[in-house]
Amino acid sequence: MSKEKLIKRYNAAERINHWIVAVCFILLAISGLAFFYPAFFWLTGVFGTPQLARIIHPFVGVIMFLGFARQFLRYWHHNLVNKEDVKWMLAVKSVLTGQEVGDTGKYNGGQKGMFWLMTACMLALLCTGFIMWRPYFASSFPIPVIRIALLVHAWSALILIAGIVVHIYAAIWVRGTIRAMVEGVVTYAWAKKHHPKWFREVTGEKNKS
Ligand code: HEM
Repeated sequence: MSKEKLIKRYNAAERINHWIVAVCFILLAISGLAFFYPAFFWLTGVFGTPQLARIIHPFVGVIMFLGFARQFLRYWHHNLVNKEDVKWMLAVKSVLTGQEVGDTGKYNGGQKGMFWLMTACMLALLCTGFIMWRPYFASSFPIPVIRIALLVHAWSALILIAGIVVHIYAAIWVRGTIRAMVEGVVTYAWAKKHHPKWFREVTGEKNKS
């Protein structure tokens, strides 16, 4: 069996950073849904008891925000949208049928859009989370502000949960992508097909095989 040529996409620190954020997100989504909707209340068991869930949820939120902030600093410059990404976004239907469009760099138009959506949701969740955080900060804000914060917090969480469902689906759907975040590597074929510009940048090779 011939050995596949591999390219490093994420180092260990980046992968640990990503999975800390992902685990925090899952714990927050489970406990948050439990507070939000009575039918999910039993999910407060994720932290042992409902009381513990209520106490721990905001602290895990702060850890997720700090973890994401580190990711933001690592990747924001790879996520600036350019002409090729707009081409990708406009032709997303063909992309969904397996035909890649545009000279895509490290991330494609969809990933970039998702990155900025995650960033906006994280900021909204952090600010509104602090405003409603009893017993530490909520007493500094008038009740109508706390109510608006609750509404914005719930909407941002729902949008982020929907976004992460798409993020996970895309990661599983494009074969070889999960490996990037688990082992840190991708194959030459994966990089050439899905991220041709990035492939040329990291290998110095032309795209044609
Ligand atoms: C819980 C399950 C998750 C899975 C299976 C997953 C999987 C992945 C994979 C495979 C990649 C690499 C994509 C590539 O290199 O092309 C990636 C990248 C990334 N993930 Fe996740 N992820 C998950 C959750 C999250 C969460 C909760 C966040 C943050 C809210 C997040 C933020 C990111 C970011 C910022 C990147 C880099 C992409 C970019 O900068 O555009 N992930 N993820």
